[in-house]
Amino acid sequence: MRRFNNVIVRRPCRAMVEGITSGLYPGKPDYSLALLQHDAYIEALKKCGVSVTVLPADENYPDSCFVEDPAVLTERCAIIANPGAPSRNGEKESIEEAVRSFYPEDRIEHITFPGALDGGDVMMCGDHFFVGRSARTNEEGLRQFSTILARYGYTCSEVRLEEVLHLKTGVNYLENNNLLVSGEFINKPEFESYNRFVIPEDEAYAANCIWVNGTVIVPEGYPEVLRTVRSMGYDTITVDTSEYRKLDGGLSCLSLRF
Ligand code: GLY
Repeated sequence: MRRFNNVIVRRPCRAMVEGITSGLYPGKPDYSLALLQHDAYIEALKKCGVSVTVLPADENYPDSCFVEDPAVLTERCAIIANPGAPSRNGEKESIEEAVRSFYPEDRIEHITFPGALDGGDVMMCGDHFFVGRSARTNEEGLRQFSTILARYGYTCSEVRLEEVLHLKTGVNYLENNNLLVSGEFINKPEFESYNRFVIPEDEAYAANCIWVNGTVIVPEGYPEVLRTVRSMGYDTITVDTSEYRKLDGGLSCLSLRF
């Protein structure tokens, strides 16, 4: 069974109100509330038995609290991504500094131009990684990622995205062969061999739950998803992410778990 010992998060910055948004969940984030929600998120993670490294807010990058995108951290290596949104690309530099405290130099790899890849498009299922080919992750990013993973004994396959921002916007692995699937992922043949738990359309946002050492953190306000996850036998903690949702961000986006 996988175990996460460490988590990296970054405090949201005031500039988050200018973060990228599709407008699917309207409104500007309330910064004070976002900070309180971030505090609760950190507390929830600590309850799951991980050590949490909290990076300071970075006003240069409005979306920089979404630390999942500039890196992919595995048991065997760290891969510094090359975020596909121009306003976010520079986030990779400061995340690499943080990652250096946890990985030796020769285990830190990079996705480089013209490759583009966001960590939100990467879903780790044991030693296999599903990677969303999206508006943020391109074919060359996927090719480089796959080549790096192969060197460490991992495999990787592509999932084409048609509707959502990132792969993990709509599908998330809760270990034990269990997947939460929503929308365009419900009938994808790539996921046929998993136990698929379908998220109703009106709770689609809550497909983005995270498994942390046997507990599943579920966004607050999604009773059907909470019931489903509990019925699967997991302990649950709910955390309100309403201010991050306005930027299309969710529970997985807010941390690197490794
Ligand atoms: N607002 C998060 C993102 O678009 O990457």
